[in-house]
Amino acid sequence: MLKKILPVAVGAVALVALSACGGGSSAAPGAGGGAAGKGAIVMGFAQVGAESGWRTANTKNVQESAKAAGIELKFSDAQQKQENQIKAIRSFIQQKVDVIAFSPVVETGWDTVLLEAKRANIPVILTDRAVDSEDTSLYKTFLGSDFVAEGKKAGDWLVKDSQGKSEVNVVELQGTTGAAPAIDRKKGFADAIAAAPQIKVVASQTGDFTRSGGKQVMEAFLKSVPKIDVVYAHNDDMGLGAIEAIEAAGKVPGKDIKVITVDAVHDGMQALADGKINYIVECSPLLGGQLMDLAKKVIAGESVPERVVTEETTFTQEQAKAALPSRKY
Ligand code: AHR
Repeated sequence: MLKKILPVAVGAVALVALSACGGGSSAAPGAGGGAAGKGAIVMGFAQVGAESGWRTANTKNVQESAKAAGIELKFSDAQQKQENQIKAIRSFIQQKVDVIAFSPVVETGWDTVLLEAKRANIPVILTDRAVDSEDTSLYKTFLGSDFVAEGKKAGDWLVKDSQGKSEVNVVELQGTTGAAPAIDRKKGFADAIAAAPQIKVVASQTGDFTRSGGKQVMEAFLKSVPKIDVVYAHNDDMGLGAIEAIEAAGKVPGKDIKVITVDAVHDGMQALADGKINYIVECSPLLGGQLMDLAKKVIAGESVPERVVTEETTFTQEQAKAALPSRKY
């Protein structure tokens, strides 16, 4: 639903600290109106934060891809706060960047600032996460995973694994409240397990996509929920935090309590190979190359698909052992 918020005077907003990285004067000429002043395309990138291994890998990949594409990147870390991302976008507008890319912390509340970008003729690309806006003219394209499909893959695995069992109690560690991956992974999982009435989500709470959040919530679940068979964590980091809590409670993760996560970053894959996680649904952070290609096309006035879905797979323990040596992140 379109979220209505009051417009805020641009001049009254404090600018967030922005650090430029990547880029190079040898780059192919961009739109020519960029802040670099040397003809290179300038991209303002408003990142969510550094909450997880996935996010760190995504930031590194975006920075490296910008450099390789000859795009000057103005990078801002919102520390998981929407207000910081809005300030960063306004700062990019003031700096007259050629294109703005961002991964929204939460789904709602973006229309006002995106309208400001549109009025300034600065195209916006959504990367990784979607916004819940009725006006799709506010952005050019959305590049990222199908989070509902990821949740469904996690649920499908559990349905298969639970065949012949009479009761399977699941605790769910949700991502950041209001974030697209938290909403969609919850939905996809719920849709999949509806096929198996013996599987019940007996507790569900946010761990904010962080390892410490996952640990803290799992500690509380272990005290308050009488029987836990499975943890479904919306990302590896929360799953890894839950594993610490399970071990501290004298139980064996992967055996006494099964663990399903999403992401497949290195630490998660190691825990999967070690038998502490049972199944991981991949969510690829390597979006940088496609993002830079889309940015160049958008700036050149070429048409781009309104949705670009990332290709990804799933991993069992055996598959993780095989994949780990060549895993890039
Ligand atoms: O939006 C992608 C999600 O955000 C990742 O799954 C999670 O690890 C990150 O924090």
